[in-house]
Amino acid sequence: MEKTIIKDKFDRPLRDLRISVIDRCNFRCQYCMPADQFGDDFEFLPRSALLTYEEIERVAKVFVSLGVEKIRLTGGEPLLRKDLPLLVEKISNIEGLNDIGLTTNGVLLPKLAQKLKDAGLKRVNVSLDTLNDELFGQINGRGIGTKPVLDGIAAAKKAGLGVKINMVVKKGLNDSEIIPMADYCKNNGLELRFIEYMDVGSTNGWKMDDVITKKQIYMMLKEHYQLENLDPAYFGEVAKLYNYKDTNVNVGFIPSVSESFCSSCTRSRLSANGQIFTCLFNGNGHDIRNFMRNGATDEELITRITSIWNGRDDRYSDERTEETAKNRKKIEMSYIGG
Ligand code: GTP
Ligand code: 5AD
Ligand code: SF4
Ligand code: SF4
Repeated sequence: MEKTIIKDKFDRPLRDLRISVIDRCNFRCQYCMPADQFGDDFEFLPRSALLTYEEIERVAKVFVSLGVEKIRLTGGEPLLRKDLPLLVEKISNIEGLNDIGLTTNGVLLPKLAQKLKDAGLKRVNVSLDTLNDELFGQINGRGIGTKPVLDGIAAAKKAGLGVKINMVVKKGLNDSEIIPMADYCKNNGLELRFIEYMDVGSTNGWKMDDVITKKQIYMMLKEHYQLENLDPAYFGEVAKLYNYKDTNVNVGFIPSVSESFCSSCTRSRLSANGQIFTCLFNGNGHDIRNFMRNGATDEELITRITSIWNGRDDRYSDERTEETAKNRKKIEMSYIGG
């Protein structure tokens, strides 16, 4: 398909697509899927509601024809979806795509890293919030220690995948782990990104006071390391990166609360059941699954997605206050993939 560039109401082009392939996860991270809210009786999407790999491939192709250059697979935990390498292979064969990554908790990487790499995956972002086993078990809500994740990281590296580490920092929970995590990642040549704790969904009980800001973390790091500021690698890069002087290791921040980046946000999101979301915090999805299942042509898909993007005026993080965090209708992160 030929490429067209489409813009939203604030002139932001469509560049990235985050595809959630499943809403389930084998963890119950406190800040994402708290165990008391996502218990045994929680109703996840039935299989028939999920887009098939053929459907995802079809939508992805249309998105690429409308300017998307980068696709990221997310969940829940994307590696729980059966035969994921098959989907990776389909997507990596789409012409006009520059990058395909995956965000994961890492536990299933020892089993899958090589298959994913062989299927065309380039990089994985692995979530790890502490190196302390006990604390990690508390955070992931399943009592699982760090070893399975560290093994997953090692397997990804061995398979030749690019690896970054995501650490969500929450005050009083894991801020004492900032320097140990920085040390560990620096010594192991891993890019660590500190993520400001966000008010995604309505189950994690977010308060502004729980956020440790980029500036606070930066000041802590400055006491231990010499850091050099790096320019963004491309328009809309989410992480602000620094280099540890005299090394080839970088460290970054995703300051979505204290220094929001909506003005350059080029991301669209596709949920596992085929709804398009124009913002991580916009609870109104646009159905594309039933539209396809009712026989829409590629032309009709293009028209629909174009009109959704043209109408986009989201800038939630720019507008965030303690009040909006409580009162807006939002979508759970496990459903839309972060
Ligand atoms: P890279 O391509 O490696 O830069 O990936 P990424 O950082 O875009 O994706 P990842 O899934 O690793 O997300 C890291 C963190 O950034 C998560 O906490 C996401 O929720 C957050 N994030 C990603 N995109 C957005 C966004 O558009 N808005 C907000 N507010 N947060 C985002
Ligand atoms: N705030 C910030 N980041 C979050 N993530 C999950 N929940 C939150 C939250 N409330 C992160 C995960 C993963 C990425 C997709 O989003 O740790 O790395
Ligand atoms: Fe699962 Fe990732 Fe959410 Fe944790 S943050 S519950 S690993 S989807
Ligand atoms: Fe984009 Fe919404 Fe995140 Fe702003 S809050 S950067 S508009 S996804």
